[in-house]
Amino acid sequence: MNSKFIVWVEENKKIQKLSEEMKHNLLEYIKENITDTKENCEKYILEKWDDTLGNCDNLKFDDKEVISYVIHHFLDRYQRMLLTLYDMYCRKVLPIKRNIYVLDIGTGPANSLFAICDFYKLIREFGNEYNIENYKNINIKIEYVEKSLSFRKWIHKFQEFLIKRNKYYEIPFHKGTFEDFSNISYTISYNHYYRNFRFDLVINSNFFTKANMKDEHNNVYILYRKEIENTIRKIKLNGLFVTLSSINYDFYSDYKKYLKGIKSFRGKDVYKLNEILDVNSNEFKVNTKQTKKELTANLEKYFTEISAILLENYKFSLEPEKKKYLDRKKSHEWKTIIMKKRKVD
Ligand SMILES: C[S@@+](CC[C@H](N)C(=O)[O-])C[C@H]1O[C@@H](n2cnc3c(N)ncnc32)[C@H](O)[C@@H]1O
Repeated sequence: MNSKFIVWVEENKKIQKLSEEMKHNLLEYIKENITDTKENCEKYILEKWDDTLGNCDNLKFDDKEVISYVIHHFLDRYQRMLLTLYDMYCRKVLPIKRNIYVLDIGTGPANSLFAICDFYKLIREFGNEYNIENYKNINIKIEYVEKSLSFRKWIHKFQEFLIKRNKYYEIPFHKGTFEDFSNISYTISYNHYYRNFRFDLVINSNFFTKANMKDEHNNVYILYRKEIENTIRKIKLNGLFVTLSSINYDFYSDYKKYLKGIKSFRGKDVYKLNEILDVNSNEFKVNTKQTKKELTANLEKYFTEISAILLENYKFSLEPEKKKYLDRKKSHEWKTIIMKKRKVD
């Protein structure tokens, strides 16, 4: 089934179409909601430009920064996640089962979650076309952790916008269940009723950055030890812990060593994480590479259109420095690390 799905995706350019559709919707959303006045445009796009692009660790993610972040990063990172999922599928490591429980830590504008929903929609579509039971009946149930209220409001607003265009996503609509990752508890009580969460797929994209991994002397310091261990306890047997991040950090070997050392227990059984993948995006499978080129072109078009919106509406053209940054961004690579929860013999 695996190779038939890949051929179907390739022949019908399914990933490209998803990306183009997301680009279109995002641009429409931006035109309608952000660039309505010159003041808004300056406020949202210019004032936070440098921090959003180069210095995310310093952001507070208030309303202004969120808009700026969405404009600069959403489409790029949505596409990264789509390609990552496709690569995972090609390597036969993507969960395919009836109910898939997903958690995204530090979801931001939920770029990864929109990609997860869209990719599983593709799998269902293929399942329906070829009547494949375990593909057409996949349900995904999503939770995210996000402490910025501005991001949670944005996810709500963007979904409202998409619903009006008949696009539905399984992402929590009413601002999510979990806010701060610090001291997170996955057992939630609603009037004497306890809900206990367990996950098949836990992802974090650009969350465990240097700020969470190094102290002021540049020594390894894992800020959220207790929370990571608690989260890994909630991953099901054979569930995955997936990290997407910049390729430029030097802490990955410590990070992986730390993750591999975590033990969780159920009765007498002991569980640990096994590394199953550590790749840079330029090492993705052949099929993924071809698709990747076209997604890069889609991103280029997006930034050209964003520049055109600015120029047309506000007679504002990007300074050469800022333009250069966007050019570099087009060729950005990222890193994917996947760990699988296994029982220790
Ligand atoms: C660099 S952004 C990454 C957003 C998105 N995952 C992406 O790939 O673009 C980091 C996100 O983590 C959130 N965040 C930071 N600390 C957090 C915490 N303690 N609990 C929950 N969310 C947090 C921020 O608000 C922000 O949305």
